[in-house]
Amino acid sequence: MGYEQLWLDYTRKVSGRETEGIIYICVGIPDAEKDALIQNSVKELQEAFAGMVGRELTLRQEGSAGTGAAQARTGEGREIRLVRREGMRVESYHLYCEKGDIVIEASDSRGILYGAFDLIRQVKMENPLHLLDRTNAPLMPMRMLDHWDNMDGSIERGYSGESFFFVKDQIVIDERTRDYARLAASVGINAVVINNVNVKDAATWLITDRYLDQVKQLSEVFAGYGIRLFLSLNYAAPMELGELESADPLSEEVRGWWHERMKKVFGKVSDLGGFLIKADSEGRPGPFTYGRTHADGANMLAEAAAPYGGTIIWRCFVYNCMQDWRDYKTDRARSGYDNFMDLDGKFMDNVILQIKNGPMDFQVREPVHPLFGGLTKTNQMLEVQIAQEYTGQQRHLCYLIPMFKEILGFRTYVKEETDTVMDIVSGRTFGQRNCGMAAVANTGNDDNWTGHDMAAANWYGFGRLAFEPELTAEEIAREWIRVTYGNDEQVEETMMFLLMSSWPAYESYTSPLGIGWMVSPNNHYGPSVDGYEYSRWGTYHRADHQGIGVDRSHEGTGYAMLYRKPNASVYDDKEKCPDELLLFFHHIPYTWKLRSGKTVIQHIYDSHFEGVEIVDEMVEQFMALQGRLPEAAYERMARRFLEQKEHAREWRDQINAYFHRKSGILDEKGREVY
Ligand code: GCU
Repeated sequence: MGYEQLWLDYTRKVSGRETEGIIYICVGIPDAEKDALIQNSVKELQEAFAGMVGRELTLRQEGSAGTGAAQARTGEGREIRLVRREGMRVESYHLYCEKGDIVIEASDSRGILYGAFDLIRQVKMENPLHLLDRTNAPLMPMRMLDHWDNMDGSIERGYSGESFFFVKDQIVIDERTRDYARLAASVGINAVVINNVNVKDAATWLITDRYLDQVKQLSEVFAGYGIRLFLSLNYAAPMELGELESADPLSEEVRGWWHERMKKVFGKVSDLGGFLIKADSEGRPGPFTYGRTHADGANMLAEAAAPYGGTIIWRCFVYNCMQDWRDYKTDRARSGYDNFMDLDGKFMDNVILQIKNGPMDFQVREPVHPLFGGLTKTNQMLEVQIAQEYTGQQRHLCYLIPMFKEILGFRTYVKEETDTVMDIVSGRTFGQRNCGMAAVANTGNDDNWTGHDMAAANWYGFGRLAFEPELTAEEIAREWIRVTYGNDEQVEETMMFLLMSSWPAYESYTSPLGIGWMVSPNNHYGPSVDGYEYSRWGTYHRADHQGIGVDRSHEGTGYAMLYRKPNASVYDDKEKCPDELLLFFHHIPYTWKLRSGKTVIQHIYDSHFEGVEIVDEMVEQFMALQGRLPEAAYERMARRFLEQKEHAREWRDQINAYFHRKSGILDEKGREVY
């Protein structure tokens, strides 16, 4: 096989105490043999038990006559029973122990599959099975991974090798495809976009006969694991496929073209979920060319896809990337809001707006996007990035679930009681079903899938969080460690420390107080303080000899006022703005006292020295795990931790030197600043 099975590795044995006597799987679901999800659930449980417990589970099929696998129960021996229970919530399951037997109950087959994977987790963690009583219903309807894979095999912002979906403009369907689907489904992912949002070249042809047979095959593999396949779409496809001269969303000819195209695509790939579209952004085509709105563009596609149950996911990452750094009025942070807020309520029901967590671009710290809490009549989905583009590129450890928890927990004040981002994207606030959460994926064809072995915690964690947002980041981390590396206490405690320290550490030794960026242009693997300062991308820090930060208050770009009260007044006021976002919202003198009591400049020095100290401690603790982790994994991780140690110093020294030179103020603790 060559590649790892991550948290589904069944070669690691468990003690067997909890599973003693379990010898059957009983499928009490009519026509189960025709249901790929149930078949895969059974297969998974059988493989897990064979591998981890060393026992072949005998299949007993109840309720359908004539199955060769039917086996009478002898009276001795326990069983795992899969049962249909009407009236439960969609995709939910109840996993419990009844007189020694383990029961997985659900209304639908996805629920059964999720229950099976949960049981496998419980067995891996050696939790007491006789106490099992877990009812679990995913809060977010859509739990999606967005792959930025190109058809030539490269991956935009990919840090773990090449694509396993595409090689040389061909779709690849092999054992790894199935294992990918298993891994994703096992943490509750139910939707996947396989190709980059920047749809160019061959990818434009995915919706044509050239690829539809393979797209169909792929969608069937995914469907067996409850995952709906989506494609990124080229807005200008009618033109780029050479069929029309225009992509004007109000042209009858263009609309007719899309109707025919959708008929063809869905006619072939009936379980296709729909499409993801990046339009009028970073050079991609869109409705602006024709003086039309994003609602015009999205609705045109939505109307064409609606007869087939297709969903159009339309991205709000729309901004002017040809800005002039001399212009202090245009603010990239405002652009998502300014482009979409007026369209609230104008989108069809099968359109979802996909909104990045912050107004800029997946920085280590950003305020929550003001469209959350702004929009009240439009389906919304949160987009985060587990590909660590700006958070260490899977060479540094940066466990992002604590960040995602903060984002989900943010109070927008759109309603009295149900106003957090989580309420909105789970559908609680506005009673929507077309909503959820997507993550830009961090996988590639590396043996360990994610480059840094521990970056797999972000993949695992994203799925678990989207399924059960009430879990804490610590609970998810602990679970990932135990299902991946077993139940060695030292491994667990050390890895907990590493994971939970990693985001704060990364923030400390990189860009301070919410300012973001300061990375090398193009590859985004910093540091380069002025890398984006005089460029067209709208990403400035505005540092001079007196201070730093962007004035986004009512006196500046007015961005702070896009939030609802009291958020707007808190962000607008330097005295009230939380320290960690201060420079995002205000231009502040280096000598300004933060709420922490430190001056801005001293905070910069202290946090950069502290960040490196934490990394040193992380590396030391990691090294002590030698012999307790699989050797190859340990070696891979050790190399990355050493790189992180060195690289954190580079960040520290460049940032500190830069601000020392700009401000002329010394570190009051007299540490070495170059
Ligand atoms: C970032 C990233 C791009 C990506 C874009 C997007 O700007 O650097 O590579 O295409 O986000 O989300 O569309």
